Amino acid sequence: MDFLHLVSRRYSVREYLQKPVSNDDLEYILNCARLAPSAVNRQPWHFYICKTTESLQKLHQCYDRPWFNTAPMVIIACVSHSEEWIRQSDGRAHGIVDVSIAVEHICLAATERGLGTCWVCNFDSNKIMTLFDFPQGTAPVALIPLGYPNTNITEKNRKELSEITTII
Ligand SMILES: Cc1cc2nc3c(=O)[nH]c(=O)nc-3n(C[C@H](O)[C@H](O)[C@H](O)COP(=O)(O)O)c2cc1C
Repeated sequence: MDFLHLVSRRYSVREYLQKPVSNDDLEYILNCARLAPSAVNRQPWHFYICKTTESLQKLHQCYDRPWFNTAPMVIIACVSHSEEWIRQSDGRAHGIVDVSIAVEHICLAATERGLGTCWVCNFDSNKIMTLFDFPQGTAPVALIPLGYPNTNITEKNRKELSEITTII
């Protein structure tokens, strides 16, 4: 699949089949996340794979949407604030940028394998921190449901290149 085709095929999957994801696919996808670039190569990330009934039930309380419950597994992509690079000139932390790149690697690798994902950031952050025992300084950035889509690709609604680019 060429890259434009791959990115065009990725879409937000909001309903999944009850078909398990193989360990081989999961490992491939997580390896693609591992190889993502990060500021000063700090790799300030950790990925929690929720696939037991217990952890999924906890997660469903943090993002309570019927479609979300159809995913056979969810990856919680976390930033480790103690490891992230902070730009000296303005003090801006870059951990969330790094985790976001890795998450998109996950989404694209999943698409390549015929699997679906959806970025989810509208979760209850306080609840997730209470229910899951993340190490100190670790915080969730995105929840990524992963599974076989039970929906069809939707049309891309995007701004025109001319609207979003300026030659300077
Ligand atoms: C940072 C981020 C957060 C998002 N959070 C949510 C979310 O909480 N719930 C949801 O259903 N979709 C969420 N989305 C998915 C977007 O709505 C979706 O990517 C966008 O509408 C474009 O559609 P597409 O992914 O099908 O191309 C999020 C996407 C991004 C990049």
